[in-house]
Amino acid sequence: MSEIEERRKFLTRMWQVGGGLVAAAGAWTTWDLLQPLPTAGFGGKVRTLPPESIPEKGVVEVSAARAYLTRVNGEVVALSEKCTHLGCRVPFCESSSRFECPCHGTVFNRAGDYLAGPAPRGMDRYPTEIGDDGLLYIDTGSRSDGPEPGSLEIDEPATGPACAAEGGHG
Ligand code: FES
Repeated sequence: MSEIEERRKFLTRMWQVGGGLVAAAGAWTTWDLLQPLPTAGFGGKVRTLPPESIPEKGVVEVSAARAYLTRVNGEVVALSEKCTHLGCRVPFCESSSRFECPCHGTVFNRAGDYLAGPAPRGMDRYPTEIGDDGLLYIDTGSRSDGPEPGSLEIDEPATGPACAAEGGHG
């Protein structure tokens, strides 16, 4: 067999191997996409974001978990959006960087610590974990009570006017 024929045979074999790998990768991806997500809706583990995408001093709402993600001293924390007073949904006020309950005026800081109002404690929390896919999961089936009034995990002043004072939330 001449050198040219050997080279041609070798290249043909390489193309076959490459094609086989592409087909295998495609089949694997298809199979992977068709798998049900290992998550449930509210009440189970809710898949969210890569943890590094949660800003240092911001708040990310995760509607499916009825929760917020924020960072408290570097750690990602999941806060229940349900007010610990009578259960209203507590929005995050961007201008003040505080959670302000529209029902009876309880105010929580960005970490969910109680600041003022009739609520008996800070915002409740859900455990979080990093999945095999590198994403952060919120376990909404396992809620723990928020911190007692008077214990502040962060000490950040309001960044601006309260939304409640403006008559709206945002
Ligand atoms: S329900 Fe939030 S202050 Fe009453």
